[in-house]
Amino acid sequence: MLNPSDFINESIEDMKNTIGDKKAIIALSGGIDSSVSSVLASNAIGDNLIAVFVDHGLIREGEAEYVEDTFKDRLNFISVDASEEFLDKLEDVIDPEEKRKIIGEVFINVFERVAEDVSAEYLVQGTIAPDWIETQGNIKSHHNLALPHGLVLKIVEPIRDLYKDEVRIVGSELGLPAEIINRQPFPGPGLAVRIVGPITRKKIEICRKANAIVEDEVKREGIEDSLWQYFAVLTDTMATGVKGDMRDYGYLVVLRMVESLDAMTAQVPELPWHMIRKISQRITAEIPEVTHVSLSVSDKPPSTIEFA
Ligand code: XMP
Repeated sequence: MLNPSDFINESIEDMKNTIGDKKAIIALSGGIDSSVSSVLASNAIGDNLIAVFVDHGLIREGEAEYVEDTFKDRLNFISVDASEEFLDKLEDVIDPEEKRKIIGEVFINVFERVAEDVSAEYLVQGTIAPDWIETQGNIKSHHNLALPHGLVLKIVEPIRDLYKDEVRIVGSELGLPAEIINRQPFPGPGLAVRIVGPITRKKIEICRKANAIVEDEVKREGIEDSLWQYFAVLTDTMATGVKGDMRDYGYLVVLRMVESLDAMTAQVPELPWHMIRKISQRITAEIPEVTHVSLSVSDKPPSTIEFA
C-alpha cells in the first residue's frame, strides 16, 4: 500500500472522477470495511453517497443505535428496519446455507428498493483483497451489478487492494473511532449463523442476550484485542437444569472465542477461567431459557469459527 494519506487522497480523487455528480449507495454494516469505504466515498462525493444500514432482525444488541450514533453526523445515513421481511422468509429454515441464501436475497431486494428511491447509479462496496482472492481470483475491478428487479449499479470498490491490517491503518488515518477500527468481525447474516436449527424471534432474543453478555465480560476482562472473535451460539440441544428445587429443560449455549489472523485458521487460546465461569453464571441467571453453557475448544480446522 502507498502511505495511508497518499492512498486516501488517490482513492478520493479516483471516486470523484468515476462517480462525478451522480449518486452512490453503500450498505454500511458498521464493520471496519464498510465503515472505511463509506467515509472514503463520502469524502469524495459528500451527500451524494447514501449509506444504508439494513436491520435484518439478526443484529446484535444495540447495534442499530450504535451505527446510527457513530455515523449520522458524518454521513448521509439511512437506517432501514426490514426485520419482519427477513424473519418471515426465514421461518422453519434449518439448513445454514439456505439461511445465508435467503438473507442474501432479501438483502438485495431491500437494498434495490432503497437504491431506486434515492436514484443511485453507483454501488460502493467494502470488498477487500482476501474477499476476491479467495473467491477464484476475480481481477475485474470495473463491473456492473444487475439487481433482481432490473436496476443496474456500477460497482466501485475503494479498498479492494487492501488487507485487513491496511484497512485499519486507513481507518485510523480517516479519524474513525478506535471502537470501529478494532471491532471483532460480525458475519453478514448475523445471529442466523449462531442459531442452530429454525430461527424464531424467541431464539434470536436468547442468542442476542447471550452474545451481549459474552462481549461485556470479554471487554471487562480487557482481552478483546487479543481475540479475533468471541461470541455465543444457541444450539438446538436441550438439556436438563435445575432452577430453585424444580427440574427445568432448556437450551445449551456454546461459547466460542478464538484467536486468528485472517479467519482462514483459528485457535482457541487459554482463557481466564474466572471469566468463563462468570459468563456461564450470567447467561443462566439472566436468560431463564438457558440451562447449560459449554465452551468450544476446537480449532479451525477442523471446526469452522461459526457454528452454522
Ligand atoms: P467460518 O465459520 O467459515 O468463518 O470459519 C470465517 C469468518 O467468516 C465469518 N463468516 C461470515 N461472514 N457471511 C459473512 O459475512 C457469512 O455467511 C459468514 N459465515 C462466516 C465468520 O464470522 C468468521 O469471521
